[in-house]
Amino acid sequence: MIKIGVLVSGRGTNLQAIIDACENNYIPGKVVCVISNIENAYALERAKRHNIPNFVIPHKNYKQREDFEKELIKKFDEKKSDLICLAGFMRILTPYFVNYYKYKIMNIHPALLPAFKSLYGEKVHQAVIESGVKFSGCTVHFVTEEVDSGPIILQRIVPVEDDDTYKTLAEKVLKEEHIAYPMAIRLFAEGRLRIEGKRVRILS
Ligand code: GRF
Repeated sequence: MIKIGVLVSGRGTNLQAIIDACENNYIPGKVVCVISNIENAYALERAKRHNIPNFVIPHKNYKQREDFEKELIKKFDEKKSDLICLAGFMRILTPYFVNYYKYKIMNIHPALLPAFKSLYGEKVHQAVIESGVKFSGCTVHFVTEEVDSGPIILQRIVPVEDDDTYKTLAEKVLKEEHIAYPMAIRLFAEGRLRIEGKRVRILS
């Protein structure tokens, strides 16, 4: 059973997918700590509903990014987190945090990396539509110092249809996110991810 810490800033549908996957034993693990940098993030309500320890640590209260991150680490370590999942967390982490939990931090991005990196929210889907690509999707990857550039664990794709808007595309991608994130966490929990340079090999 792995212990999972989750960082959120918003509505938390990915957090919900992770919690549900743990509760129905798809992931051999447990969410032990949810931290939001935003006070009234709906994700916190989801944690409360499932009796998961949850905390607000407002980044604004800290002058130095590292001081903010030290507080995150304190809470995650208190709860003995083995894996940190970024689920709609709207802050960039410094090398201090990333290296403290080296290859133990995952993120989900709502496009097929390495394309459309460093874009957030509806901007990603808008950029995808404008670019004319025929497929989009989501990417679960390990977090490294460079934003949206760590080793890719898995991707799921959706077709971009002629009549898609950024809203319809976002909905389609989100459905796949809720499958992909639990899948990646399960593989991690089962010890089946081997990082070889930029590649992640999935052991059978
Ligand atoms: C998702 O689209 C995710 O890919 C991105 O932020 C969004 C978070 O949504 N990183 P939610 O808070 O999990 O509903």
